[in-house]
Amino acid sequence: MKPLAYTLLRHFADGAFHSGEALARSVGASRASVWNAVEEIEAAGLAVFRIRGRGYRLAAPLSMLNGGELATSLAKTTPFKIELMDEVDSTNTLLLARAREGAPHATVIAAEWQRAGRGRMQRRWHALPAGSLTFSVLWRLARGAASLAGLSLAVGVALIRTLGALGINGAGLKWPNDVLWQGRKLAGILIEMQGDALGPAAVVIGIGVNVRLSEAARDIIDQPVTDVEGIVERVVDRNQLLAMLLGELHAVLMTFEQKGFAVLRDEWQRNHVHQGRSVRLTLPDGQRANGVARGVAIDGALMVETARGVQPFHSGEVSVRATDASERV
Ligand code: BTN
Repeated sequence: MKPLAYTLLRHFADGAFHSGEALARSVGASRASVWNAVEEIEAAGLAVFRIRGRGYRLAAPLSMLNGGELATSLAKTTPFKIELMDEVDSTNTLLLARAREGAPHATVIAAEWQRAGRGRMQRRWHALPAGSLTFSVLWRLARGAASLAGLSLAVGVALIRTLGALGINGAGLKWPNDVLWQGRKLAGILIEMQGDALGPAAVVIGIGVNVRLSEAARDIIDQPVTDVEGIVERVVDRNQLLAMLLGELHAVLMTFEQKGFAVLRDEWQRNHVHQGRSVRLTLPDGQRANGVARGVAIDGALMVETARGVQPFHSGEVSVRATDASERV
């Protein structure tokens, strides 16, 4: 969407009616330009009501990101410096490029909307404008990429803690790092890194949290999904949620750097949705392994008790086996 559409969205965020004339005056554009920008907002998936004599309004109030508010809350407790963007292809792609150009440790890029958000295994991350939290964090480590084993699982712990603080207690972790609620995907993590195994590493931690999904988005996504607002049944302040999440992320990253994933493993396993359950692991080459999920190793591998004993798996897609299919995730 063009910048004018985001400017209008900020006006519409209160959920009240705004007349086309007042909007045009306030943003310094023609009424036709306002009309076109509203069309863009609708094309992006947000429903806008138009009532003759009253103007435009959204179906529900919307929480837009606010750089000043975020900077103030983050400065109190974390080293993060946040840059907000209306829209970008992918915050991970952009931050990886910035990392190559020397962007400082603890840089955060958050976007209202990603045109081409990326997930694990070449999947897409779909969201509405201002409908997800989509952000990436650059974390530089003196030790090499080899020291990062388990990091993506540690980040999952930060997400679970944040959701708990928000009152969402039933969320769980699906290996390696999906966050599920009642078997439906609520959040995902995409960790990408630069640097070699021994030299200093730069890791980009990308997090997407479904805050408000549209019916259309639910239809496009090829797995069961849910959103924060549907669970807590109220409009959620995305600035507050992002600040909470970055606070927990900072705490977890400090623990990880000092002590490794080992000290977070119990917490991860307590929240593991497949712990002790019969699972099927589909490996990247298409082969399958069946067994009982026995938790994770300190290097982040999933431990599965197969017919040949407990084995570590470093990649693959987990699903519940038919023998234990009360819940299929
Ligand atoms: C997954 O569930 O497979 C991972 C999803 C990760 C999505 C986030 S949104 C912010 C960051 N930028 C991206 O393009 N992807 C991650």
